[in-house]
Amino acid sequence: MPSDDFIVTPWHVEGKIDYDKLIKQFGTEKITAEILKKIEKTAGEIHFMLRRGIFFSHRDLGKILDEYQSGKKFFLYTGRGPSGHTHIGHLVPWVFAKWLQEKFQTTMYFQLTDDEKFYAKENLTLEQTKSFAYENALDFIALGFKPENTKIIINTNNIRTLYPIAAQVAKKINFSNTKAVFGFKNETNIGMIFYTSLQSAPCFIEDRQVLIPLGVDQDPHFRITRDVAPKIGRPKPALIHNIMIPSLTGPGGKMSASEESGTIYTTDAPQVVKKKINKYAFSGGQPTVEEHRRIGGNPDIDVSYQYLRIFFEPDDKKLKSIYDDYKSGKMLTGELKAILIDKVNSFLEEHQQKREKAKDQIERFLLSEK
Ligand code: TRP
Repeated sequence: MPSDDFIVTPWHVEGKIDYDKLIKQFGTEKITAEILKKIEKTAGEIHFMLRRGIFFSHRDLGKILDEYQSGKKFFLYTGRGPSGHTHIGHLVPWVFAKWLQEKFQTTMYFQLTDDEKFYAKENLTLEQTKSFAYENALDFIALGFKPENTKIIINTNNIRTLYPIAAQVAKKINFSNTKAVFGFKNETNIGMIFYTSLQSAPCFIEDRQVLIPLGVDQDPHFRITRDVAPKIGRPKPALIHNIMIPSLTGPGGKMSASEESGTIYTTDAPQVVKKKINKYAFSGGQPTVEEHRRIGGNPDIDVSYQYLRIFFEPDDKKLKSIYDDYKSGKMLTGELKAILIDKVNSFLEEHQQKREKAKDQIERFLLSEK
């Protein structure tokens, strides 16, 4: 891989991603001021993740917003591959999905793909991925979703509902399609080869248009779904993509649940969060205080600043003053990290309480089989 290049697939993200290039590569559309206006017209406000380009790209979003204006509703769908505990990066599309759900008054489906992670990870058993599925579901519920309009799908539990839809989809995908999109080889296990049909299935679970908020690495699956949709007489899913959340240890690549040091889990204790950020958070600061005061830091590559921008500081004015102070050298790296530690820990304190309560609610969220 050349040093200025990058790779984005559902199972592998590497390098420094150029998002404008990625939009061209994937053939998606940039979120424009015009799209933002349309969202604002219905929602009454613009979520900071939209304003800051955390959600940066889409497919058919303009179309479904226009349809919504003329009275045609859509539903929401997103998901998570339960390969480990939830980390704070996972919450980004879920928090945004929650906002969309409130603003557009929709039902919501959340798919936990315990089968996918079993197929994709050599060392994980199906029991493990299933138990992570329950763990991850708690974090999702903790964000405030309601069982009346939100259903959680666990693939190995809900296969009866999913399979008839997946079969329709699978019949329209051939091996060379998936090979071309995902780079599968003859050695790839055949669970992986079929899998896209299962991730597609929830798109067609209701008889109306779906909108999917998702990490841009998941786009290839739905590119296939969108090709299949008209062939089975169904509407193409619309998508809204978020950027990959950097790992604590640095930009380039996404925050991975399997890499301990670079990851803040939703279950981490305050002292652990503090230690991880102080020890591992990639810094855009200068090597000495004296130099930092003179030259200033670089917030654009500083992971602590990026986490504030992406998730933890919704207030634009406060964010800007942090940006300016760090860049001018007035704010030191240790001070910036202290702000983030505080924000993460106060978020997690509340989240962990809600997560405990979710244990009593989870049954009401699980999609039941007829
Ligand atoms: N494959 C996704 C992952 O590894 C999980 C997933 C299933 C998903 N359905 C989805 C993600 C829909 C986004 C949208 O995390």
